[in-house]
Amino acid sequence: MLAQMPRPHGFVPTMGALHAGHSSLVAAARAECKTVSASIFVNPLQFAPGEDLEKYPRDFEGDIAKLEELGLDLLFSPDTAEMYPPGFSTSVDVGEMGNTYEGAVRPTHFRGVATVVAKLLTIMQPDVLFLGQKDAQQTAVLRRLVRDLGFPVEVRIVPTVRDSEGLALSSRNAYLTPQEREAAPTLYAALTAMRLLLHQGMTKDAAVAQAKSILSPLAQLDYLDLVSAKTFEPLSALQVPAFLIGAARFGKTRLLDNLWITK
Ligand code: PAF
Repeated sequence: MLAQMPRPHGFVPTMGALHAGHSSLVAAARAECKTVSASIFVNPLQFAPGEDLEKYPRDFEGDIAKLEELGLDLLFSPDTAEMYPPGFSTSVDVGEMGNTYEGAVRPTHFRGVATVVAKLLTIMQPDVLFLGQKDAQQTAVLRRLVRDLGFPVEVRIVPTVRDSEGLALSSRNAYLTPQEREAAPTLYAALTAMRLLLHQGMTKDAAVAQAKSILSPLAQLDYLDLVSAKTFEPLSALQVPAFLIGAARFGKTRLLDNLWITK
């Protein structure tokens, strides 16, 4: 069936609980490709024991309705046994890039992401893979996966969709209490302040220190940093392309955000 579908074929991998950020990925695929497919699979390999696999938001019926409205051509929604039958033991490790920042906090996470995306690319055989900029390190890891293993697919990064206060849309925003929800946009505010300060010539360390003061007292910061967009290694001064990245806990919910710096 896939072989007969008109090309180019754009593919949007997701874990469901779809929001406007996912819709923008499907819309970007629709604008560029003749066939648009998506997957919904809450991938157990990218959750460590004790993380939110069980309570990760799921809304299959709602997701189907949204994807139909967006004109999706094909949905792949396997169950765990189909993706990982008994005896499944192969994993894909992208090396050091998967061990820093999110990888330091979640040591098996990127191995799980790279493994499932390698398998999804093999099954779906798209020409173009659409990823959200919101998960900046994931985009770098998956670009590396595609390059190193020679998957014949182009990668497109689609800008983050934000709410009216600047909070990056994420399925995990659903976990925030009203008070945490009010505090959460300060992560984006800290990143935008840091970008301005760096462009004004401030050193990275001074910009990080000043940006931290913008965060809500409810935020427990994991990191704020400037990294190379290609290698995800920390940069001591502004060089492009780069990501300004941040992660913070608001109560029990860990949120990520970033800005892509191109000049
Ligand atoms: O970004 C996500 O939703 C997931 O990490 C992905 C890329 C679908 C792999 O499970």
